[in-house]
Amino acid sequence: MVVLGIESSCDETAAAVVRNGREVLSSVVFSQVPLHRPYGGVVPEIASRSHVEKIGPVLREAAEKAFGTESPWSGIDAVAVTYGPGLASSLIAGLSAAKGLALALDKPLIGINHMEAHLYSPFLSPDAPPPSECGRILGLAVSGGHTCWVDSPRFGEYEIIGQTLDDAAGEAFDKAAKLLGLGYPGGPEIDRMASLAPRTDAVRFPRGRPKPGSPAWGGLNAELCVSFSGLKTSLMYHLRDNPPAGEDDVSLIAASYREAIVDSIAERTATALKGRKYQTMCVGGGVSLNRRLREKLESVCRDAGVRLLLAEPRYCGDNAAMIAGLAGMGGGVKCDTLDIDVNPALEAGD
Ligand code: KG4
Ligand code: ZN
Repeated sequence: MVVLGIESSCDETAAAVVRNGREVLSSVVFSQVPLHRPYGGVVPEIASRSHVEKIGPVLREAAEKAFGTESPWSGIDAVAVTYGPGLASSLIAGLSAAKGLALALDKPLIGINHMEAHLYSPFLSPDAPPPSECGRILGLAVSGGHTCWVDSPRFGEYEIIGQTLDDAAGEAFDKAAKLLGLGYPGGPEIDRMASLAPRTDAVRFPRGRPKPGSPAWGGLNAELCVSFSGLKTSLMYHLRDNPPAGEDDVSLIAASYREAIVDSIAERTATALKGRKYQTMCVGGGVSLNRRLREKLESVCRDAGVRLLLAEPRYCGDNAAMIAGLAGMGGGVKCDTLDIDVNPALEAGD
């Protein structure tokens, strides 16, 4: 089955064509980062307007890259699209385009959960085994909007077992970069500055652990939850009391801050892997580009005897190959009547 996927949940307009869930024939991503950079964050109105402008050309480019310019739409068996979670006005742009295309091509429309697609993204790598050979999977989605651990006993079944209680990891990176006077988005900037530092313990930042005896949070085990808001406050106070004298200081602070986020995620992951319930761990989302996080997760999984599948760098951030791929594996909702609506608050497993 050849699926054309569409993704527009935040600030990337993306389309891709994937055969049988695994073989990426084309993947086009138009990033709006330069449009939002002057504001230091995503501006929803600018995002939705840009999606409307770009979705047509991006779709055409993906189809032409897969099938040539003569009959770019002929090989498509289904159209898949993210319907949540994300910004409502951004999701609507992609969903409307997908409905129009499905109608025009007379092909089925498949709704995809963006978080489940991030968890699927490691399977776009040709070296990854098929999901059916992975046993029980621990999923970790780490992005600008989400940080959650997901139990997947079987392909297509998801239950959130842990998550951030406040900011997402990407948000914590982005806010810190702002405080440090680094560029937007902050994750890559902090990663770059941190890698220049000779040590990672110059400043001791909190690890966002729940207090001993904390009650379960929203039915989740508190030991699998993390909080990043105190970390940002602690950086603010550190900078007030110890203004960095130059780039060397900034890189030392960035390295300690990155270490705190990465340690928090690695620690919760090690807790989730205890008990030897999982055979595989799958990680996706923009923050999984972080080099230190990739290293630490490798070490945690090695210690736990669990196979780690990380998304390839081009499929870590928002992209449509993960949407088309998951749909091609049967991981979406078929919408025969086209009356599906966006769901900005959708969670993995909903
Ligand atoms: O998955 P994504 O592209 O979009 C969302 O769905 O949010 O993730 C974007 C987030 C941003 O917060 C960005 O700062 C972060 O991913 N990010 C990183 C790195 N590259 C991107 N965070 C840490 N280290 C990186 N190398
Ligand atoms: Zn995302």
